[in-house]
Amino acid sequence: MDNNITVPKKTIFSGVQPSGNLTIGNYLGAIKNWTTLQNEYNCIYCVVDMHAITVRQVPADLRRRTYETLAIYIAAGLDPEKNTLFVQSHVPQHAVLAWDLGCFTMFGELSRMTQFKDKSRSNADNINSGLFTYPVLMAADILLYKTDLVPVGSDQKQHLELARDIAIRFNSIFSDTFTIPEGYIPKTGMRIMSLADPTKKMSKSDANPNASIGILDSKDDIIRKFKRAVTDSDTTIRYADGKDGINNLMNIYSCFTGKTYGEIEKEFDGRGYGDFKLAVGETVADSLSPLKTKFDTLMKDKAYLEDIMKNGAFSASRIAERTVSKVHKKLGFVVKS
Ligand code: TRP
Repeated sequence: MDNNITVPKKTIFSGVQPSGNLTIGNYLGAIKNWTTLQNEYNCIYCVVDMHAITVRQVPADLRRRTYETLAIYIAAGLDPEKNTLFVQSHVPQHAVLAWDLGCFTMFGELSRMTQFKDKSRSNADNINSGLFTYPVLMAADILLYKTDLVPVGSDQKQHLELARDIAIRFNSIFSDTFTIPEGYIPKTGMRIMSLADPTKKMSKSDANPNASIGILDSKDDIIRKFKRAVTDSDTTIRYADGKDGINNLMNIYSCFTGKTYGEIEKEFDGRGYGDFKLAVGETVADSLSPLKTKFDTLMKDKAYLEDIMKNGAFSASRIAERTVSKVHKKLGFVVKS
């Protein structure tokens, strides 16, 4: 029903780094859920290429993955007419606001970020200041768009918390400026764990290629990786404490089929892990196949993708420019005439 005096839609903002091959963890934990929000919310989804360069990237790969990430958004069902889809570096206000906010973020706060500590360990030869101020850029992403809700996984909660602290601090010094964002925990889709170490989150930057299933992996690769998935020495397919590997496979199977754990246990009653792994692999590959077909078509039409990027950046800029000029006035910058 369309009526003109409805409450304004809440704004959702989220982003994915074009820094690796997106996995079924990104799909089930994020992108798939986003498609269910597009009618109810004002959704803005960004390909955060500026965040990606905090670790060394091969330029040609970064460029290709930026197109690919956008194509995956659309192939997964995000309608570019209903959502604002854009590339972070196309809207320079992200960098501008990040500088401003950085002056309201304490060294101690950034030092406490667990992701910074982890990434400094894994990139010991390149602990650059961008890696350190990463959460400030993320705060700028969120605060530029008066974001109400931010769908993030648990690994990003600390960053979101910091974005809120920065916004609250700025508002209390300069009067109400930023909307204070909240985390948005989707109803479905859980943490998908690594196939090689099911106590760790599945990550697109994992060095072990068997640990994660890429959204664009071939059917053969998907089945092969599931066959090798680490499980346990028990033999029954049931969801239980200490069966992290099987629990993870059951979760993945449940996300793609809609079946409950009880139904899955019944379906595989008396059957072995080998059977189950094969069924999960086939189901995942077959479910992703339409997405992949759509993705291939989109990737052949760069001009179309560039058009979406351009339109997205245009709408995003209009909001971002307004926020930055409001912030600059409050800070005491002379408005450019
Ligand atoms: N840091 C997020 C991640 O790696 C990506 C991100 C950048 C993001 N800016 C954001 C997520 C703003 C939500 C909102 O997953």
